[in-house]
Amino acid sequence: MILRPNQRENILPLPVVLISTISKEGIRNAAPWSNFTPLLRPLDEVLLASWLKRDTLENIRQTGEFVVNIPRAGMEDAVMICARNYPPEVDEFQEASLRAKPSAKVRPPGIEGCLAWAECTLLEEIAREKFVLIIGKVVHLEVDDMFFNAQGEMDYERAKPLGAMLGKEGMSFTYPVFSGRHAEYKEMFYHPAAPNSG
Ligand SMILES: Cc1cc2nc3c(=O)[nH]c(=O)nc-3n(C[C@H](O)[C@H](O)[C@H](O)COP(=O)(O)O)c2cc1C
Repeated sequence: MILRPNQRENILPLPVVLISTISKEGIRNAAPWSNFTPLLRPLDEVLLASWLKRDTLENIRQTGEFVVNIPRAGMEDAVMICARNYPPEVDEFQEASLRAKPSAKVRPPGIEGCLAWAECTLLEEIAREKFVLIIGKVVHLEVDDMFFNAQGEMDYERAKPLGAMLGKEGMSFTYPVFSGRHAEYKEMFYHPAAPNSG
């Protein structure tokens, strides 16, 4: 089957994060984001893509700060309330009954009940005609000890970090399961066989 090129978002699972920000007047905002990725292991930068008409973008531009919160399965309803296009003067924490978690290094609060909180500062904005790429630097990274081991690895089958598969009329929320294969990073390095001394 051939799909239209703009259905490329249907062909892979996407992350679902909640980005929390505040306006320069201090109004709290939260919005779900799937165009989000850490940039190249092991840097401390993240990338997100935003349409121009977003309070999140406006707040990041005004304050230079944002928090990337990782919601769990079970938080879908709050995620979809935050996805509504409320006017900028509406406190979206209140609308979605989200509890604020004070941040360590930035002014916008995180969201209680999430699995992890990446506090970020704006490093660079790459403007396109209709959208913007935001590069942020993670200045404080905190996780819920209930779902992470001492090495900072997530027990993802228990934690159920939220993802989504997109379709024609909407999205289905997902979470990851183990495929049965673990690989160490050292498997990626090519070691030519020692020359045959024969
Ligand atoms: C699962 C999901 C993922 C989304 N991902 C993005 C995204 O990557 N970029 C974007 O600009 N909008 C995205 N949106 C739409 C925004 O969340 C939505 O427009 C929201 O109202 C923006 O809020 P704000 O104006 O308070 O920033 C997504 C919505 C959902 C439900």
